[in-house]
Amino acid sequence: MGKQLSRFWPGLYVIIGLYHTPDSDTLQYNLPDQSMAKFAANQAAIIQVNPQTDLPIKAWKSMKQQQKVIKKRLVDDPDSPIPEGHLRFVCLSDTHSRIENNVLKVPPGDVLIHAGDFTMLGLPKDIDKFNKYLGTLPHKVKVVIAGNHDLTFDQDMLKNEREDMTFRFGVTEENFEAYMIENKLADVKELMTNCVYLEDASVNIHGINVYGSPWQPAFGGWGFNLPRGQMLLDKWNMIPSDTDILVTHGPPIGHGDYCFDGQRAGCVELLSTIQQRVKPKYHVFGHIHEGYGITSDGYTTYINASTCTLRYQPNNPAVIFDFPLPEGCTKDEALDLYVKPAVIFDIPLPEGRTKEQALDPCVKPAVKTLTKAQSNEANDDD
Ligand SMILES: [Fe+2]
Repeated sequence: MGKQLSRFWPGLYVIIGLYHTPDSDTLQYNLPDQSMAKFAANQAAIIQVNPQTDLPIKAWKSMKQQQKVIKKRLVDDPDSPIPEGHLRFVCLSDTHSRIENNVLKVPPGDVLIHAGDFTMLGLPKDIDKFNKYLGTLPHKVKVVIAGNHDLTFDQDMLKNEREDMTFRFGVTEENFEAYMIENKLADVKELMTNCVYLEDASVNIHGINVYGSPWQPAFGGWGFNLPRGQMLLDKWNMIPSDTDILVTHGPPIGHGDYCFDGQRAGCVELLSTIQQRVKPKYHVFGHIHEGYGITSDGYTTYINASTCTLRYQPNNPAVIFDFPLPEGCTKDEALDLYVKPAVIFDIPLPEGRTKEQALDPCVKPAVKTLTKAQSNEANDDD
């Protein structure tokens, strides 16, 4: 099966979802940093829904005999020097509009990650304030995902549950639509100008792949809620297998997911996806404020970075880790995100498979980005 380099897009470095398809016989995927063999392996790894997925306490009880949950420490001193050849990542989550006046509480670093719930209700004035605050932080790259509280980022909810959003959450014409019209906004994402906003998508920081997704098991009818089981697994199946740092709003089962009322909020299929297929070095999340902390399963490090406590006080320190840069890459190169061309390949459909079948969410990879070196390579091939 040959792959054909069909198009070159300069200046584009984060793209969500799947490209349009040019004809009925091929699909276009952007596969800049995955070999075809690895891509095939990614597609072939099938994660099964756990029969006890709807009973997370029971599910974890049966699983935990085979699981390691090791308490872990990362970088304790925010003023410690960054080791040579490393990027420093600083992780926040669940700040709920409570940190915008506390700039000093965020330690310096190269990359800031925010794992969602930066507001209480996703009101545009609060998003704008958060975005302006991000603009004051020194980190060169800021990666942000939404959480269940960032309601107005959830397009399905806006479309199908608008009345409910007013009635239950207080998202009114006055504080939402009027602001959008006055500021000529079609989508609240347009307000996120000081960060890379990821929604089932990746950003490649010179060879380090960071993937972000806002979904979590349904609870209380909030944003980005999905039923446990196959529907969430369909989202996790979109995570590319070469992800180094996974960012989700919700935790996996067993790590940082234990709630004050004895429930476990974590997703069973998210843990299965992490351990059986994706195997990232780090998984950053939040959502369960009381689950703040760091654990490991012996390979992946799990970071519940909830900044706010159970009582919504922004008292938990940012979690910091240093990630090694790919060999031969300097920090300046790694942080130069401004020109990231993408390459699109045409892949023939397998025999007897229609485009509709192939576009089923469980076989959709997220569109990825190119590092500068890879872009140059692609250019040379063209
Ligand atoms: Fe949350």
